[in-house]
Amino acid sequence: MDSEFTQNITRRLDKPLVLTGLSGAGKTRLGRRLAGALGLDFVDSDEEIEKAARCSVSEIFEKFGEPYFRDGERRVILRLLDGGVRVISTGGGALMTKETAGAVWRDAISIWVRAELPVILERTARTNHRPLLRGDNAEAILKKMMHERYPVYEQADIVVESHNGPAQAILNQTLQKLDDYLRRPRDDKGAA
Ligand code: S3P
Repeated sequence: MDSEFTQNITRRLDKPLVLTGLSGAGKTRLGRRLAGALGLDFVDSDEEIEKAARCSVSEIFEKFGEPYFRDGERRVILRLLDGGVRVISTGGGALMTKETAGAVWRDAISIWVRAELPVILERTARTNHRPLLRGDNAEAILKKMMHERYPVYEQADIVVESHNGPAQAILNQTLQKLDDYLRRPRDDKGAA
């Protein structure tokens, strides 16, 4: 993608870009590259929660439980949405909190980063920092999450297919879809 193409996208953005999707879909990796290509700042909601709590996501789950984490996540994402045009990557469960989802649908351009189950399994098996995916039943948990969360993710403005191919190809796909989205008339910007 040439810089004129990306600059032309950045010029038309009037809302932050929010990346959503399951763990291991590649939100953070794509988010950083997308921000770089568009000349925007990048923030990750989990990192912001960790900074605010001064401990890791795993520790928050262990010490205070998931509802406490979700409440902190909601507050952090509402604050990030208020920070102007930038790229925000969110934790996979963030949009299951109604208020968080409502704010994202309203105040951001949402991008669902979708990956196939085997890709997600392979990527998430390499790390151990996700409290909900520990243990040997990760596949069953991910299938359940797909069932519960896909109807929500599907409401995103844009859907990007995250495969094991070159990161540049996924970035180009995202930029192209973003450009298409921004060309659509305002009241036609419902589905992806
Ligand atoms: C979660 C996903 C994680 C993190 C937390 C809960 C989820 O973020 O927010 O462990 O509910 O799916 P990633 O999607 O970045 O792994």
